[in-house]
Amino acid sequence: MAIQWFPGHMYKAGKEIKKLLPEIDVVIEILDARIPFSSQNPLLMEFAAHKPSIKVLNKADLSDPELVKKWQDHLEKNDNIKTIALSAKDPDSLKKILDLARQMIPNKGDHQFITAMIMGIPNVGKSTIINILAGRIVAKTGNEPAVTKGQQRIKISEDITFFDTPGMLWPRIGHENWALRLAITGAIKETAMTHEDIAFYLIGYLMKRYPETIKKRFELENLAEDEYSILEQIGAKRGCIKARKLLDLHKVSSIVVHEYRAGNLGSLCLELPDEVEKEKLEAIEIEAKREIKREARKKRRGRK
Ligand code: G4P
Repeated sequence: MAIQWFPGHMYKAGKEIKKLLPEIDVVIEILDARIPFSSQNPLLMEFAAHKPSIKVLNKADLSDPELVKKWQDHLEKNDNIKTIALSAKDPDSLKKILDLARQMIPNKGDHQFITAMIMGIPNVGKSTIINILAGRIVAKTGNEPAVTKGQQRIKISEDITFFDTPGMLWPRIGHENWALRLAITGAIKETAMTHEDIAFYLIGYLMKRYPETIKKRFELENLAEDEYSILEQIGAKRGCIKARKLLDLHKVSSIVVHEYRAGNLGSLCLELPDEVEKEKLEAIEIEAKREIKREARKKRRGRK
């Protein structure tokens, strides 16, 4: 499964961000607490390794509190990083982001503004958070004609100003699971991957980590042994069987994906630090194999 990245405009955005960095005191990255690794901007550590950073694990209401805590501990191993887990559905909790910024940049007190760059891939809840903190609807920053281009400055309080950056997906060479998880949460548009692919991956993961939630939500007494058979079980419960007892795979897949996104399956986290570390190693191996193939192709072309 190939995900198409469009690095052209991202390269430009990355350059603009680098240019702005000297003015920035703290970088606030909004993450999806269900996928704290996959929703990161992979280039951020490159751009801003030495900047104090706040990672906001938003949508904590939809994620697994125990695993979210594991992610916070993992991320905070980096001295420059502090984390907060919260839900933008609880507006009062968002003030914690500003309090943490003030704690991290204490020497900016007394009449000096703290300038924070706020980043986040699509759908992590960045606009919701900005609008609540600013107390008004702020136009989305982005590269589409209808929305504000480049960055915009947003005054949040007497002492804090945000620089908002476009909410785009950043290029990441790597594991297809990362893209699948982005698709499950809705960060990657439906057109890039089918619901069937996403549902297979999701059911496979839930079978391992949260089997009881599938049973409970879809009223299944036992779980079948493989993804397709579980989708058949769910399909039978939810009217997704076509003529000749064939499963309507598209319909049942869409049901599973929507139920997950709505939080109807429970508060579930889709990745763990040690799993991601394994995937990183796999991704390196995959890339090395691809490189060998590319070199072999080049040599063959050279001989012709
Ligand atoms: P973005 O700017 O990062 O792209 O995200 P945005 O704020 O537009 O939020 C994307 C969706 O996520 C919105 O739902 C928003 O309500 C929801 N959301 C944001 N933060 C949270 C959170 O902490 N918990 C939960 N459960 N949902 C959150 P939507 O369905 O697209 O729009 P709407 O139903 O709010 O109108």
